[in-house]
Amino acid sequence: MRDFRGIVSVDPSEYKRAMRQLATGVAVVTSRNGKTMNGMTATAFCSVSADPPMMLVVVNRSSNSHQIIDASRSFAVNILRADQQHIAEYFAGRADKSFADVGYREGVTGCPLLAGSIATLECLTAKAVGAGSHTIFVGRVVSANTNEESPLLYRNGAFATMVEHA
Ligand SMILES: Cc1cc2nc3c(=O)[nH]c(=O)nc-3n(C[C@H](O)[C@H](O)[C@H](O)COP(=O)(O)O)c2cc1C
Repeated sequence: MRDFRGIVSVDPSEYKRAMRQLATGVAVVTSRNGKTMNGMTATAFCSVSADPPMMLVVVNRSSNSHQIIDASRSFAVNILRADQQHIAEYFAGRADKSFADVGYREGVTGCPLLAGSIATLECLTAKAVGAGSHTIFVGRVVSANTNEESPLLYRNGAFATMVEHA
């Protein structure tokens, strides 16, 4: 793609190689529409504003979660603990994901809130902005619970845990 200055987009593989260097936390973005519940592993989430409390998640339009979040106008961000890599791997799949073996409780939005997460934040969608293959869902945060334990991290295609400097 070329902009009005004639500058072209970087090659997608160069872009991905650069972005793989970013170390992030890992979340499962959960959603519910009627009886249908879903969860998808995500690293594209961040805080937007503290007052009012708002955050965003970036969701691929081709995911099942996109359809559910779009319809229900709500989602929850469950930030995973260091020992929850298996949960991240499970919710990165596309197949019908059951919550039967995953501990959860229902939040005020109806979204499942995963047991053991180091933080769970429930959001009502305030804005949805299309960007390339994804939609940026900006949510007004309506509940937040914290459990101060060590986070699961992700960088360069691999899960990791944190070593704190003294
Ligand atoms: C570490 C990791 C991070 C991911 N981050 C995102 C993300 O931020 N946004 C997204 O749309 N998909 C992300 N994915 C891919 C989704 O988890 C994957 O497409 C999933 O199958 C979607 O599930 P669904 O179709 O049931 O919604 C990530 C996958 C992994 C393994």
